[in-house]
Amino acid sequence: MPDAHDDSPFIRTCRGETAEHTPVWFMRQAGRSLPEYRAVRGTGSILEAIAQPELACEITLQPVRRYGVDAAILYSDIVTPVHAIGFGVDIAPGVGPVVEQPFRDRRDLDRLRPLEPDVDTPYVIETVRALVRELPIPLIAFAGAPFTVASYLIEGRPTRTWVTTKALMHTDERLWFDLMDRLADLAIASLRSQVAAGASAVQLFDSWAGALTPSDYERFVLPASTKVLTAAAELGVPRIHFGVSTGELLGLMAGAGAEVVGVDWRTPLDVARTRVPDGTVLQGNLDPAIVATGWEATEPAVLDVLRRGGGTRHVFNLGHGVLPETDPATLERVVELVHAHRSDPIDATAEDQ
Ligand code: CP3
Repeated sequence: MPDAHDDSPFIRTCRGETAEHTPVWFMRQAGRSLPEYRAVRGTGSILEAIAQPELACEITLQPVRRYGVDAAILYSDIVTPVHAIGFGVDIAPGVGPVVEQPFRDRRDLDRLRPLEPDVDTPYVIETVRALVRELPIPLIAFAGAPFTVASYLIEGRPTRTWVTTKALMHTDERLWFDLMDRLADLAIASLRSQVAAGASAVQLFDSWAGALTPSDYERFVLPASTKVLTAAAELGVPRIHFGVSTGELLGLMAGAGAEVVGVDWRTPLDVARTRVPDGTVLQGNLDPAIVATGWEATEPAVLDVLRRGGGTRHVFNLGHGVLPETDPATLERVVELVHAHRSDPIDATAEDQ
């Protein structure tokens, strides 16, 4: 079915088509860097805010109004589905996802029943429907990839070493793959419901995949992410596959099926290009910490990303999420600069500027 945003710069670029300018959006564009977010967010768990469609809709729209970005991303979280089916996950402010009873053995699989989006996450569907009515630009739906969600369920809180996760992976392979499979099904059901409600693209967040060696990633993680992205292909919308510190995994990640592969700031886009098949669209990869320092260092960094991005098959973004201490005025200028940039000199002279 044709989507109202098929001709937008973001969707065209995701599909490998030419666009009038390089599209730009920011991971975590909604959130604590915005005073209007802090004003409406309240003090409860972010999961309570996500469950209020009117509030979630407003928070999603805030950065769209302020920045003139080319895509909106649903205000939700990667743990929303596991929370909704009662696994006992919350998000502690300043910490991240915390789990009352972490995943330990085979009996814990029973705590991961299938997601019924209409019943378990009706608020997500309602928020997406309301947003699609309001938005002049495409809405990106998302899900957490099986590995990144598993790492929270197993560790019980954010980790720097992933020791417990790697222990399960390497000591009980059958349980590991059963867990990956359950989490893949949750991601698929969630993405399906968001696209059915009108979202125009999907992003699979495997934020912590870079913790793995390429061989462990290929053996223990790639099959489940491929399952999610293959099922998402049937939804007919562009798919983005993102992780952090994944320089050594980009080729494998590109093989999971998505049209677009996210790159963090550690790998220059021209180098990333050599690691993925021809035709792959890259998303990224301005260093979010540079943006948080202010405009002076950000301006040349934006130009460098644009140059290395090559002017086509490039969705401009940060290499990871906006840091809370970022001045929104800097991001506003990033959008202006990306939109004004023309890689084709003929276009540049045709423009009266
Ligand atoms: O603007 C957007 O990008 C959309 C919203 C979004 C949030 N979480 C809102 C949020 C998205 C796409 C996510 C996904 C998510 N959540 C990921 C993958 C992306 C990434 O950053 O790698 C991960 C790893 C999580 C887990 C998570 N949720 C963490 C680590 C935290 C930070 C905890 C903190 O308080 O510092 C959260 C909470 C969270 N999710 C916030 C936001 C805006 C901030 C907390 C709040 O406002 O209460």
